[in-house]
Amino acid sequence: MHAIAKIHLIAAARPNFMKIAPLYHALKKESWAEPVIVHTGQHYDPGMSGAFFQDLELPEPHFHLGVGSGTHAEQTGRVMIEYEKLLAGGTVDLVVVVGDVNSTAAATLAAAKMGVKVAHLEAGLRSFDRTMPEEINRIVTDALADLLWTPSRDADANLLREGVPGEKIRFVGNIMIDSLEMMRLRIDRTDAWRKYGLERGRYGLVTLHRPSNVDGRESLERLCSELIGISSKIPLIFPVHPRTRKNLEATGLMTRLKESRGISIEEPISYVPFMNMVFNCRFAITDSGGIQEETTYLGIPCLTLRPNTERPITVTEGTNRLIQPEELGSHVHALLENHGPKGKIPELWDGHTAERVVKSIHRFLFENRQTATT
Ligand code: UD1
Repeated sequence: MHAIAKIHLIAAARPNFMKIAPLYHALKKESWAEPVIVHTGQHYDPGMSGAFFQDLELPEPHFHLGVGSGTHAEQTGRVMIEYEKLLAGGTVDLVVVVGDVNSTAAATLAAAKMGVKVAHLEAGLRSFDRTMPEEINRIVTDALADLLWTPSRDADANLLREGVPGEKIRFVGNIMIDSLEMMRLRIDRTDAWRKYGLERGRYGLVTLHRPSNVDGRESLERLCSELIGISSKIPLIFPVHPRTRKNLEATGLMTRLKESRGISIEEPISYVPFMNMVFNCRFAITDSGGIQEETTYLGIPCLTLRPNTERPITVTEGTNRLIQPEELGSHVHALLENHGPKGKIPELWDGHTAERVVKSIHRFLFENRQTATT
């Protein structure tokens, strides 16, 4: 151990950046820590990456692996190869990986094989659906990590059931809420909805990018028909992920969506204006993981187009509902009539997760206790 601990924070894809940011800012204040941002390059479009760094007040990544897109094996393999080279070139005291993207599992594999300690932030979530690439990434990462920081108690239970020793697990809460609270003033002041000609509280926000929803023509077509139907009752804004855009264009469905007057098709929106759009929407329609959590925290109804979720607390305690595509229209109708489900804020989703993580890192690295618990 060095007097100043070098801590790699692995950033890769859009949902990672708001998990890295609060931890980077918290570690930066500590005299004993040197946080180093390693961007794998999984997301590379400025609108999917650079804009988020600026919004979250992050510096340019200290290292950029430049892996780009590819098949799962290509992307995972490239991150492993490039990250191994980086690790071989210098000493690192701890690698922090977040979430469940391909780069999360790849960086964990590379580091673990080089004997470098790994900590996983957002550990223990399970959808129990191995057709999701993210589920495989979660299982691999959690099996190898030395420290596992969980966002909810169900995640602790999942890890214990899989045989992870209890002393490696620490329930720290949801780091995404730290980002939201850190940026709340700026988010409130942005009024992004005005720019899109919408009325506060009188529009639905749509995001879709899961392969199971957007890669097949049939499911994409069904979803577009539902959205067009809904847009005759309430305006929808749909910032389109690159994967979804590519498929909408290839199937000709983009033209149909653009012809519907009630739907605004937009480029991806960066963190602060996007969160402003969430704060002020009537409901969200999504297949994202993060939006299920953010809407639960804000008490906004969320209709999730998935058969399962690795974030069950957003359903049992929050405002999230899992629905089938063909139920979308009727759910929105019911919601507009009845104002939707009331929820509560889950335990430790309080904006102080980064502080708990920093304490856990200090204990792990300096107090010679190979455990996550305080
Ligand atoms: C990835 C994550 C997913 C996460 C999502 C958030 C995996 C397995 N999936 O999915 O968990 O919810 O990020 O967005 O890690 N592309 C661009 N520009 C970019 C990035 C991607 O055009 O900056 C296009 C490429 O054509 C690429 C496709 O989008 O092939 C998919 O990108 P990829 O990173 O493989 O997966 P996502 O669908 O973004």
